[in-house]
Amino acid sequence: MLAEGRIRCFKGEADWPAFRDWLVSGSFSQVLVLADTHTAALALPRLEDKLGRRFDPLIIPAGEPSKTLDQARRLWEALLERGVDRRALLLLLGGGVVTDLGGFVAATYKRGIAFAPIPTSLLAQVDAAIGGKTGVDLGFGKNLVGTFSSPAAIMTDPAFLATLPEEEWRSGLAEVIKHGLIGDAGLFARLESLAGPQDLAGEDILAAAAFKREIVARDPFESGLRRILNFGHTIGHALESLALEMGAPIRHGEAVAAGMRLEGWISSRINGLPSADLVRLRILVRRIFPPLPEALFRADRLLPYLRQDKKNCESRIGMVLLSGIGEARHDALVDEELVAECLHAQAAGQA
Ligand SMILES: NC(=O)c1ccc[n+]([C@@H]2O[C@H](COP(=O)([O-])OP(=O)(O)OC[C@H]3O[C@@H](n4cnc5c(N)ncnc54)[C@H](O)[C@@H]3O)[C@@H](O)[C@H]2O)c1
Repeated sequence: MLAEGRIRCFKGEADWPAFRDWLVSGSFSQVLVLADTHTAALALPRLEDKLGRRFDPLIIPAGEPSKTLDQARRLWEALLERGVDRRALLLLLGGGVVTDLGGFVAATYKRGIAFAPIPTSLLAQVDAAIGGKTGVDLGFGKNLVGTFSSPAAIMTDPAFLATLPEEEWRSGLAEVIKHGLIGDAGLFARLESLAGPQDLAGEDILAAAAFKREIVARDPFESGLRRILNFGHTIGHALESLALEMGAPIRHGEAVAAGMRLEGWISSRINGLPSADLVRLRILVRRIFPPLPEALFRADRLLPYLRQDKKNCESRIGMVLLSGIGEARHDALVDEELVAECLHAQAAGQA
């Protein structure tokens, strides 16, 4: 995998000419575009306009159900049919589904061709397109098959977000809030004065993306520091899985937002998070995210999922905890009893 610092990063309106020059100077045998049904209609015209050329994109249906081996196989076959060789470049124009699936297809086709994400959802711009994790889901298990593979370049242009629906902005905002909480108190403070998800400034999107790049550069294979990016995700993933099992799926960002609130409460109990900081976290999360159904917060339903978490050790639950806004540790282990207590506090409106 390329060191994060060696990946060419292009940002915002001003970098399009440089991105265009990079495409030309790369002497790629072909430049192809992968998009989903939404981004083919809404984002491709801007890409074509900025690059001054037309594409015949590979298109997948929008949404998580496309992140499968079947879909990967269809794309491998389409690349073969188009005579794509190992010197080609695949541009990934879309949200996290396109960048995860497309990165996986590129990393494995003929043992790997170059790819470059052009993320078009907030979640992909600040999170999914950064860090080299590619992959597909297997049955109900998310991201169970995949690779660590570096893109050749990434082009992040917040202008693509103009057509993004509000609920997708909200989902991506959870990760931006998380970046503030685990490492950038200034960013968190600016988010506290946001009127709504769509008011997020382009500079803050680019700052949140740069923050993740910096963490990944220091720990590319998630052996330590990079785990802080999982703040809110231990309980968040369990909520997401339980909601799926109950037949009423919730968005990743909604689950992470609730997870951050609860893991914040646990941080204040055992990791010294000052109560004033916990209050700030709760106010921001509750203002942006509508409450989730109470049925999701039952310990007897949630704990079985928490017990499967990869970070667990000796029947304690591995978690990232805060010690202040902008300060996190990644190696905490939490007793199940405390998680159950936290869920009771949530039910009583105290977490
Ligand atoms: N690889 C990683 O490190 C990583 C990190 C976080 C999440 N992920 C993955 O990312 C995926 C979620 O990403 P997502 O929320 O972007 O999902 P997504 O790709 O499904 O995009 C969400 C929706 O927004 C639409 N969309 C995207 N850009 C648009 C635009 N500019 N205008 C209008 N609509 C647009 C998409 O078509 C889709 O309907 C999950 O599969 C998750 O596992 C990966």
